[in-house]
Amino acid sequence: MDLELKGKTALITGAGQGVGREIARVLAAEGVKVAVNDLFQEKAEAVAAEIQKAGGEAMGVQADVGNLEQVRAMADRIVARFGTINILVNNAGVPVEIRSGATPRTVFAGSEPSFWQKQVNLNFYGCLNCTDAVIKPMIESNDGKIISIISEAGRTGEAYMAVYSGAKAGVLGFSKALAKEVGRYCINVNCIAIGATAHEGTSGRLNLKSTPENDPALEKMLKVYPIGRGLGRLGRAYDPAYAVAFLASPRAAYITGQVLSVSGGFSMC
Ligand SMILES: NC(=O)c1ccc[n+]([C@@H]2O[C@H](COP(=O)([O-])OP(=O)(O)OC[C@H]3O[C@@H](n4cnc5c(N)ncnc54)[C@H](O)[C@@H]3O)[C@@H](O)[C@H]2O)c1
Repeated sequence: MDLELKGKTALITGAGQGVGREIARVLAAEGVKVAVNDLFQEKAEAVAAEIQKAGGEAMGVQADVGNLEQVRAMADRIVARFGTINILVNNAGVPVEIRSGATPRTVFAGSEPSFWQKQVNLNFYGCLNCTDAVIKPMIESNDGKIISIISEAGRTGEAYMAVYSGAKAGVLGFSKALAKEVGRYCINVNCIAIGATAHEGTSGRLNLKSTPENDPALEKMLKVYPIGRGLGRLGRAYDPAYAVAFLASPRAAYITGQVLSVSGGFSMC
């Protein structure tokens, strides 16, 4: 099936590694001109260079998605180069509770307000800021796709990730409401909820080479944790990336305000 994405332009946030990087690579392979955003310039540029080497069109753009001024300046740079932004993928976000390494299991009681702020700024305000930067031109052109990567934690709530869960749930509610506001302008707003997804940036915790046969920790995880129900594996970055490509395409024109779980059956609601 031709997804009819050729010639479209996309901004993918937090695409210097992992899920965002794979989304950028998959969209570029479909003929989309991709703006690869990351907090770190060198990471954004490395992924853009990788895509160009493979024959795609890409630019690296540094910005902190939590900073509205930086996000607006980034959008201006992309429009100056590509002319427009048809597709926004709000991917930047992270369960800081786990990735920081310092406090792998953060109990909410007694946690620091500065920590809540950091989480909400990245995972919720990042989405608001980037959406703000693209929504008016999308309304004017009667065309747009906004896809936000949330987590199953935002649907079901995950113990020790309370603030992250709340921020992702905020993105979910925002997306549904926005979908109702902008549907009349042919703008589709959807979320993809992912579960434990292994990639080059998660090797300490979720190893790409692990299988239930060679990794007792994964075998145990698959038994006690509802990921990969019957599928027997962790997610891979390409799993959500292919879902993004579909939702970003004209083939998904009649789908809006939805949350698609790409999590091996973690939640089935
Ligand atoms: N990998 C998982 O197991 C998993 C599970 C559930 C949900 N998610 C969600 O999927 C998305 C991608 O996750 P990932 O595992 O690829 O994350 P990651 O941490 O591996 O990569 C995130 C990228 O975003 C960049 N970034 C961080 N802060 C930023 C900021 N303020 N502005 C711009 N860029 C910033 C980082 O430099 C990094 O390159 C996130 O929204 C995350 O919450 C991931």
